[in-house]
Amino acid sequence: MREACPVAHDGAGTWTLFRHADVVAAAHDPATFSSQVSHHLTLPNGLDGAEHATYRAIVERYMTPQRVEALAPACHAIAAEVIASTPRHETFRAVALGTRYAVRAQSAWLGWPPQLEDTLIQWMADNHAATRSGDHELTAQVAERFDTIIRALLSHARHTPGPGVTTELLAERLAGRPLHEEEIVSILRNWTAGDLGSIAVSFGVVVHFLASHPTVQGDLRAAARAGDRGAIATAVEEMLRIDDPFVANRRVITRDVEVRGRTIPASDRVVLNWTAANRDPRAFSDPEAFRPQVNAAHNLVFGTGPHACPGRALSLMELAVITIELLIATTRIDHAPGHSPVRETPPVGGWSFVPVLLS
Ligand code: HEM
Repeated sequence: MREACPVAHDGAGTWTLFRHADVVAAAHDPATFSSQVSHHLTLPNGLDGAEHATYRAIVERYMTPQRVEALAPACHAIAAEVIASTPRHETFRAVALGTRYAVRAQSAWLGWPPQLEDTLIQWMADNHAATRSGDHELTAQVAERFDTIIRALLSHARHTPGPGVTTELLAERLAGRPLHEEEIVSILRNWTAGDLGSIAVSFGVVVHFLASHPTVQGDLRAAARAGDRGAIATAVEEMLRIDDPFVANRRVITRDVEVRGRTIPASDRVVLNWTAANRDPRAFSDPEAFRPQVNAAHNLVFGTGPHACPGRALSLMELAVITIELLIATTRIDHAPGHSPVRETPPVGGWSFVPVLLS
């Protein structure tokens, strides 16, 4: 599509941009490509302009480099524990390991109880299934179930304030007033609902890449043993560029706009396809080549423009930490013989099944 039809129309009011330059231009023009795509309150994702900046500033306070660093030791402990309980010399599912790690790391950050782990894992599976089905009603029902879980946690945190971000959000103020419950629910939903899944799916991509590239794996194991988290994080971001599991985000057009000679009329929808843009040979001379340093400047895994992911540093820390723990706990990560990795069903990206052997 990127080569044959880079500005594609589905005939029903939705367009998709596939080329790197077009996706970047749209992401940097929120006045034309608005993020107000949903009737649901989605903070800060679904806002534009000054209103977006206000809520974005609140979200960013929880993802500063200091906060990310403070969480790193807990993530190392969780990753080491999850990996120690993973069998050696027999086939296991990398994505399942990533899921358990993502849930535990996020619960540590948010101050959520460990007993919630299985409920969250089940919810993630149901959410993926609903997304795959394309059934909006089912997706809405699953989202509602998540809101019920969050409301119960908020009520608990109100009565028994504990450490963690959830309790802090309850004390957060906006223009002199506390945040409304629906605002807190929306913020937490965006952090968890979309992003728990993306950490787990990203880990599947990383393990698949390591098993497929033994030389890179060896080099990164040496970096992991030397404690070079920066090198591992840069490498992880490049693996995610090559096989970007966070496929797309939507916009709605505020005025007629021309892209590559095609007029997209006001009110139509536009999908920014990060995955296709991240493999555009116009931006990356050899898109398949693993070149962390060279490609970093144009990497779109975490988006670009005013909505670029505020969770980037947090995500890369979490992913680098589990990758380090996996590499130092093993001498080899290989594809399991007799099994093939299985792709996720679009629109979910990445792999649903990455069978590997650890030695
Ligand atoms: C590998 C993991 C992740 C990937 C690949 C990812 C990717 C992205 C991308 C591409 C966007 C841009 C959306 C757009 O332009 O419409 C975005 C936005 C966002 N991400 Fe992430 N994300 C990840 C993890 C996280 C985590 C862990 C959090 C929070 C805990 C988070 C919170 C957000 C929020 C709040 C936004 C909306 C920002 C805004 O509208 O200003 N993300 N993410």
